[in-house]
Amino acid sequence: MSPTIRRATPDDAQALSWIGAETFTETFGHLYPPEDLEAFLDTAYGLEKTRANLADPAKAAWLVETAEGHVIGYAEAGPSDLPHPEVQPADGELKRLYLLKAHQNGGVGRRLLDTVLAWLEQRGPRRLWIGVWSQNFGAQRLYGRLGFEKVGEYQFPVGRVLDDEYILRRG
Ligand SMILES: CC(C)(COP(=O)(O)OP(=O)(O)OC[C@H]1O[C@@H](n2cnc3c(N)ncnc32)[C@H](O)[C@@H]1OP(=O)(O)O)[C@@H](O)C(=O)NCCC(=O)NCCS
Repeated sequence: MSPTIRRATPDDAQALSWIGAETFTETFGHLYPPEDLEAFLDTAYGLEKTRANLADPAKAAWLVETAEGHVIGYAEAGPSDLPHPEVQPADGELKRLYLLKAHQNGGVGRRLLDTVLAWLEQRGPRRLWIGVWSQNFGAQRLYGRLGFEKVGEYQFPVGRVLDDEYILRRG
């Protein structure tokens, strides 16, 4: 059976916090010194922050689960806070989209992305934004197929490391 996608609730804070840190480490962990990675995971995926995000009505999160109930991926969206001069308060942003490696390339990511974009467009039509690592060519292809174009660049701190990120926009 194919994995299911559902909206996360405040009761899912622990699961969301875990899958966030797990998938970031699996995907990008090798790029950073351990202490920088650890500091970043604590702030970006900590339980407090996750709980606050889940309680915010302007934001939404989704969990991807197997038929057995194992969490294998997630996504988050909300108002955009990307550092681009044309970002407006009403604009939306896909903030995170991750699957565990063992479940990638089977079409689930595209389904998850469609779910998030549909939620963002419910309050639309509106301008949508995504920040993506400059070297993440796979994700850039996926977003490009859905009409997102590069409109800027910025640096994203992971501990003391500064990553080069692209800012993508649709609309
Ligand atoms: C991005 C991601 C959610 C896509 O989910 P998926 O189920 O693998 O994707 P699908 O099977 O629906 O679609 C395949 C497309 O996803 C993209 N993709 C595939 N593997 C990828 C990977 N390891 N990293 C990034 N993007 C990937 C490609 O565009 C691919 O199509 P293409 O090879 O024809 O260009 C998933 O690959 C992932 O979690 N990657 C690592 C985390 C990540 O990069 N997240 C995005 C951060 S902005």
